[in-house]
Amino acid sequence: MIKSKGVYAGKVLVVGATGRTGQWVVKRLLHYGIAVRVFSRQADKAFTLFGGSVEIVTGRIQSSEDIALAVRGCDAVLSAIGSSSYSGESSPADVDRDGVKRLVDEAAKAGVRHFGLVSSLGVTRWYHPLNLFGAVLLKKWEAEEHLRQVFSSLALSFTIVRPGGLKNGEPLLHKLHVESGDRLWSGWINRSDVAELLVCSLWVEKAKNKTFEVINEREEVQSTLERCYDLLPE
Ligand SMILES: NC(=O)c1ccc[n+]([C@@H]2O[C@H](COP(=O)([O-])OP(=O)(O)OC[C@H]3O[C@@H](n4cnc5c(N)ncnc54)[C@H](OP(=O)(O)O)[C@@H]3O)[C@@H](O)[C@H]2O)c1
Repeated sequence: MIKSKGVYAGKVLVVGATGRTGQWVVKRLLHYGIAVRVFSRQADKAFTLFGGSVEIVTGRIQSSEDIALAVRGCDAVLSAIGSSSYSGESSPADVDRDGVKRLVDEAAKAGVRHFGLVSSLGVTRWYHPLNLFGAVLLKKWEAEEHLRQVFSSLALSFTIVRPGGLKNGEPLLHKLHVESGDRLWSGWINRSDVAELLVCSLWVEKAKNKTFEVINEREEVQSTLERCYDLLPE
């Protein structure tokens, strides 16, 4: 789909904007000419990454007051926040569950109309090995459920993207495979494509109130490594 600038007139709060997917969310929003505010615990890092092209609000995902200030005046929230340590303030319980739930509550209170969330494949499976890391998938599932419940009950819209393993690289290079019902076990996708899906959810009606899994259509599997020897000098 080719969209020109001016497709979405609202202001978007990006949470987890300094992360690898979040940076792409900001980039793609700016590509479409959409006004961006980022919420980060590290103003310096956010400024180094985005300079003056976005508004920066500093705060902690543990603080409802900080979040309330960040969401005020925004029409949508896109979150790519994610835990990075087993325990403490960046743990799955603090970030993927409680942080996201707090964000949902404050966004709904502030009149935000759309909420896009990066979740993960496998969130409905308690027995998934990734749950050895602080029950991360179960925490993400709890946050998803909260978002669906709160936003549906208020007739607001949400989009939950459950990607496979994340890779770096440019967007729009791969055909994507989309499913619902959490039936996929593996697969990869570029962070930039996850970001693009979240950004498009702002204006694509069919994206509203959907939860779906997404990976690249076809794995780029090497059937032989013999060609590597062609690269060596004679
Ligand atoms: N890695 C995978 O293969 C994979 C697969 C499926 C789904 N996911 C999910 O996809 C999302 C994006 O992944 P990613 O690899 O792009 O993430 P990432 O680069 O690790 O970025 C995570 C973001 O969360 C923020 N964050 C972490 N702890 C925080 C805290 N206590 N308070 C405030 N912000 C905090 C980080 O802020 P700072 O920059 O300040 O640290 C960063 O902006 C995550 O939810 C991840 O769980 C990942």
